[in-house]
Amino acid sequence: MKNVKILGVSGSPRKNGNTDVLLDSFLRGAESEGADTKKIHLKEYSIESCIGCEACRKDGTCTRFHDGMELLYPEIEECKGIILGSPVYNYNVTAEMKTFIDRLYPFYVFTEQRPGPYSSKLEDQGRKALIFTVCEQVKAEEMGFALEALGMPLEALGYEIFDKFEATGYFSKGEVLKDESILKKAFEAGKNLAISLR
Ligand SMILES: Cc1cc2nc3c(=O)[nH]c(=O)nc-3n(C[C@H](O)[C@H](O)[C@H](O)COP(=O)(O)O)c2cc1C
Repeated sequence: MKNVKILGVSGSPRKNGNTDVLLDSFLRGAESEGADTKKIHLKEYSIESCIGCEACRKDGTCTRFHDGMELLYPEIEECKGIILGSPVYNYNVTAEMKTFIDRLYPFYVFTEQRPGPYSSKLEDQGRKALIFTVCEQVKAEEMGFALEALGMPLEALGYEIFDKFEATGYFSKGEVLKDESILKKAFEAGKNLAISLR
């Protein structure tokens, strides 16, 4: 039997920051249940913003840019599980994460009728996602729309949101490392994701 594959995507521009540390815990949990994992740090990929040229509608993939997304599209297709994590920047996800999400547009299949119904090349395949956000402020409302900004597009693409996670009150780089309880929670969540994908 093939191992479950899970892709972890960090939207933080700060390497080894809180998002990275938490993502590592989610992935370690998934690995403890035999999942094959891969971690992507979006800042290390050169990814252009979608310009809405709609070429992907005709061509089936992005033919406008030849950039880091060419490496990521096959990984996304191959991995039944995805973990998206972003720090909160101004009540939302980071620019890196938003750019990545917009560039998932080629996975949509649109009808001729405009505006009209759409489907996704990723739907009905049992794909599941785990989403998490990290912020400095302690109150969850300071997260703004960040969690929805991760979850809604993934649902539209056909993922079931298996778990959501908000880590509040972490500011300095890697500060979350000191909080064993949240790291354990993340480990367990990753583990459960892997089990559910089997
Ligand atoms: C440009 C910018 C905007 C931010 N906006 C918010 C915010 O709206 N709410 C909040 O609680 N924290 C905000 N923060 C703090 C980060 O979310 C926090 O430091 C987080 O731990 C960073 O995660 P990282 O270490 O993974 O990069 C902001 C930080 C930066 C640099």
